[in-house]
Amino acid sequence: MCGIVGYIGQNQAAPILIEGLKKLEYRGYDSSGIAVQNHGLCVIKTKGRLADLEQKVNEVGGVEGSVGIGHTRWATHGAPSDLNSHPHSSMNGRISVVHNGIIENYLPLKAELEEKGYHFVSDTDTEVIAQLFDAYYNGDMVDTLIQVIGKIRGSYALGILCSEKPDEMIAVRKDSPMLVGLSEEGNFIASDIPALLEYTKDYYLLNDNEIVVLKKDSIKILDLQKNEIQKEVYHVTWDLSAAEKGGYDYFMMKEIMEQPKSFQATISPRIVDGEIHLDDIKYTDEDIQKIHRIHMVACGSAWHAAIVGKYVIEDYARIPVEVDLASEFRYRNPILDKDDICIVISQSGETADTLAALREAKRQGIRILSIVNVVGSSIARESDDVLYTWAGPEIAVATTKGYSTQVALMYLIALKFAQARGKLSDGQVHALVEEIQNIPAKIEQLLALQDELKALADANANAKDVFVIGRGIDYAVALESSLKLKEISYIHSEAYAAGELKHGTISLIEEGTLVIAIATQDALYEKLLSNVKEVKARGAYVLALAKEGNTEIEKVADKVIYIPQIHDKFTASLDVIPMQIFSYYTAVARGCDVDMPRNLAKSVTVE
Ligand code: F6R
Repeated sequence: MCGIVGYIGQNQAAPILIEGLKKLEYRGYDSSGIAVQNHGLCVIKTKGRLADLEQKVNEVGGVEGSVGIGHTRWATHGAPSDLNSHPHSSMNGRISVVHNGIIENYLPLKAELEEKGYHFVSDTDTEVIAQLFDAYYNGDMVDTLIQVIGKIRGSYALGILCSEKPDEMIAVRKDSPMLVGLSEEGNFIASDIPALLEYTKDYYLLNDNEIVVLKKDSIKILDLQKNEIQKEVYHVTWDLSAAEKGGYDYFMMKEIMEQPKSFQATISPRIVDGEIHLDDIKYTDEDIQKIHRIHMVACGSAWHAAIVGKYVIEDYARIPVEVDLASEFRYRNPILDKDDICIVISQSGETADTLAALREAKRQGIRILSIVNVVGSSIARESDDVLYTWAGPEIAVATTKGYSTQVALMYLIALKFAQARGKLSDGQVHALVEEIQNIPAKIEQLLALQDELKALADANANAKDVFVIGRGIDYAVALESSLKLKEISYIHSEAYAAGELKHGTISLIEEGTLVIAIATQDALYEKLLSNVKEVKARGAYVLALAKEGNTEIEKVADKVIYIPQIHDKFTASLDVIPMQIFSYYTAVARGCDVDMPRNLAKSVTVE
């Protein structure tokens, strides 16, 4: 979503802010701006891309000053416009604020301020913070911020400048990510690591309502009682090249191609001599035996990974698994037993609904195991146990390697839990682990189908509606495939459990409708063939996915893509690859911005 960068140091702030914001472009945005201390606060902001902001900065001959805040906005309150862009300022120009999140009670606060004579120029909730800060300002930024925090309700990561304190910048967060970077040449705030990487790899993570006071050569972190807090310095273990395109046209293709490596990186530290060791979590065999039910919560593709997990865990470990959309779980008053556990899945570790679902499960006293890609993210920090997916930074809005590595951990959890509960023998687990270890090589084989998939995508790029069907785990992959296609190509697409089509949706199939049939479950192959015949009889054009050797399907489908032979339970890891590539080339053929689809953001930190 929105991005924040702040800098205070020896160098010119404006170029650092703009470069930092460029590294956050992937999060999705519609406008941007900066405020720099320059004998008063100089604010430049605009609707549009960062190139538009750069142009505006150049038009005024650049902005001198070594203290500044910058922002990329993803509109929530008020349409994208110059006035609604951040930074927002107090009426007198004394205060400038950048904000990620949503202030829920901004309307009554705005009314109070208007009564006091404050005029507002934007439709945003953030402008209220700037004006409120100004109204309370007593010469001390921290005291003032504490008062502001006492009044506002909602989620926020804030960077604040005051023209009367040209050598100081303050920041705070609640339910929205914020990092503090430290370097010899100055200090930083940022909503995500890539913004800092060019300057530093050392950073602090802020907890909710910790206030940071930055000067050019010092950083102080305080609680709401103004007690100083000592923090551990984190060190980023990957470098800038991991967050760059590396010769690919889009991050999405780079990330698709990285999947063998990220799958391997996620499983290999956890497999020793054919045994699964989830040493990063504190579950004993007795803990696993006691589990009564697993609740999985997640959003979007992570929810699709959870559905794969349900099939695999229930089948192998025989533990009932309920999968909930996090946005539903948090409000449906779920029934949780003390011996239940909650598995929370999130690439970013910052998704607002998923974090809220985690908190609901925690409030009801059950143990939280999270599967997260971003080290030190909010979900990771609030969980009892964390299994990291070692996918590396994922920049494209549409997840690929994030999803694949989540699915990889589903397999390891299923087998580990099954073994601990005596549902699989050591020998069975060894054989299945070997299958999992062969997956990266099989993904490589599928990545080589680029040309064939591009041709298919080009031929079908004008499709109006696409239906993706499958049964069992193939249905879980159909959900993910359909989302991938629609989110980046804007073609309407729906996933259906193949057996469910004739209960309504089949009426939408007409001459030439594209149906993608995922037919990679040996146990359900015949059934799926019947479903393909049903749609063919209504004129559908069928593109099928099947396992090598299962050629029967060629008699009914128009085109078949084969995946290497693999155990039914692990097909998701292979099926998804051609579907990602097909979606990618469809979006390219339609001239879409693959990495930043319209209206979407990488990490959804608002409800
Ligand atoms: C789709 C996609 C989203 C995310 C969802 C959850 O390609 O990326 O559906 O999966 O927003 O995000 P995380 O995993 O960060 O919680």
